[in-house]
Amino acid sequence: MTDKHPGTDRSTIVNSAYKDSSTLIARQRLYDYQLPSHDLPAIVIQVASTVSPMSILDVGCGNGTYLHPLRRRFPQANTVGLDISKGILQDIEQPKLVANASALPFSNGSFDVVIAMHMLYHVENIDRAIEEAIRVLAPGGKFIASTNSAKDKSELNDLWRRSAEKYWAFLHLIELLSLPDSPSKWLNKF
Ligand SMILES: C[S@@+](CC[C@H](N)C(=O)[O-])C[C@H]1O[C@@H](n2cnc3c(N)ncnc32)[C@H](O)[C@@H]1O
Repeated sequence: MTDKHPGTDRSTIVNSAYKDSSTLIARQRLYDYQLPSHDLPAIVIQVASTVSPMSILDVGCGNGTYLHPLRRRFPQANTVGLDISKGILQDIEQPKLVANASALPFSNGSFDVVIAMHMLYHVENIDRAIEEAIRVLAPGGKFIASTNSAKDKSELNDLWRRSAEKYWAFLHLIELLSLPDSPSKWLNKF
């Protein structure tokens, strides 16, 4: 069965949303304004430190927000970047591979730490991806995952809503003034 939800549709992910790092970088920059701000890479490193890892897997590593700090902090470890998009991996150094979180190409117990940061909401079957992460985790290892809350970027959504309301009020005013070729008439053509 083909899943056409844009959030989990593989074609949208690989050919559009994460074709390369440009749109991801733009979205990540929004978090520069987040209050309170959270240093998630530091939290991941703190948790990973508890097992002195020799092997780390970053599932859905994207442009390396977590992969790069992990490699710097644990230079002795084999830290693998994995993503379903080949394009977004272009600036990631080896070891890296294109693969699906739902079918990790590793044997059981391969990694001391597995992370899946802000990516599980893109996976068709989240339970399966978590099972896979746990399967490749060594006994006593750490699995770290993050996601967005329901209120994520609510300030931005609010801003969009208020400007849309103003825009529609403006269009409505033009309609009331009965101006010819009003913008809403153009919009109706689409
Ligand atoms: C929002 S980005 C997060 C990137 C990085 N983990 C971070 O937090 O900065 C989501 C990433 O997950 C990848 N992705 C989406 N679905 C995937 C899947 N089924 N298996 C592996 N990677 C996937 C995307 O290509 C994208 O690079």
